[in-house]
Amino acid sequence: MSGPVACVVGWPIAHSRSPAIHRHWLKTYGIAGDYVAKPVPPPEAAAFFAGFAQSGFVGGNVTVPHKEAAFAAATDHDEAAAALGAVNTLWLEDGELHGGNTDGYGFLANLDENAPGWDWPGLAVVLGAGGAARAVIWSLVGRGFDPVIVVNRTVERAEALAERFGPTVRAAGWDAVPGALAEAQILVNTTSLGMTGQPPLDLDLTPLPDEAVVNDLVYVPLETGLLAAARRRELTAVDGLGMLLHQAAPGFERWFGQRPEVTPELRAIVVADLEQHR
Ligand code: ATR
Repeated sequence: MSGPVACVVGWPIAHSRSPAIHRHWLKTYGIAGDYVAKPVPPPEAAAFFAGFAQSGFVGGNVTVPHKEAAFAAATDHDEAAAALGAVNTLWLEDGELHGGNTDGYGFLANLDENAPGWDWPGLAVVLGAGGAARAVIWSLVGRGFDPVIVVNRTVERAEALAERFGPTVRAAGWDAVPGALAEAQILVNTTSLGMTGQPPLDLDLTPLPDEAVVNDLVYVPLETGLLAAARRRELTAVDGLGMLLHQAAPGFERWFGQRPEVTPELRAIVVADLEQHR
């Protein structure tokens, strides 16, 4: 196949849905090119990114566990990547490696699409303090949520994020959840709890206000226990797949010159892919 080739870099990478997303867009817009999964073991990451300009790829996505290594290798960062200290989108300009981060954009675009009007200023509760939480917290602060309560099993990790993002962000342990939920405009799960093969996320949603929005970043399964509980309470429930679809769009535009659309057809393709590889 001729044309530009982009990649997704991670370890492991075999189950990444990104090739399915980008190949659908290449086909939809009639663009010659390809998008491939590139497995890179952690000890080889620094050398891989240092040599990216000679790799033959026009750019790529970066996923776990390489987002910090990609940040370190990029010579220029967009505002989101600089704020998060992590890069999920790479591109070349004049032979230089540029790094961006579209995770926060994907998170916001998913909610804007599926819960219009969700962001009137209020209190947000974020469960988890890992890499995904960083992008979510930064985005919520940017949209004016105050305070953003970060709940984590290891409270020190939540405290480190509170320090990074300023006084709007407050760290808490799980015992603070019922009290925080009573005031919450939005609840976001960024932990791995509720994911297939992981322990369930057992949370009593009774205290949440009736107008609250519940968003789970977990999308395997698509309908998590948390989302099912939110729907039983007749709250607005938004799954995590939309974030994955939306975060992919800016990279595609940079590498292939066409802003792609997140459509129901694309979503159906990825849902079918998820079901096939369950
Ligand atoms: P990611 O970068 O995808 O966010 P991560 O950095 O591994 O992944 O973070 C996983 C999150 O899920 C963390 O907040 C983790 O809590 P700790 O920081 O205390 O480890 C949370 N998590 C995972 N398993 C958990 C469990 N059994 N109970 C509570 N929290 C859990």
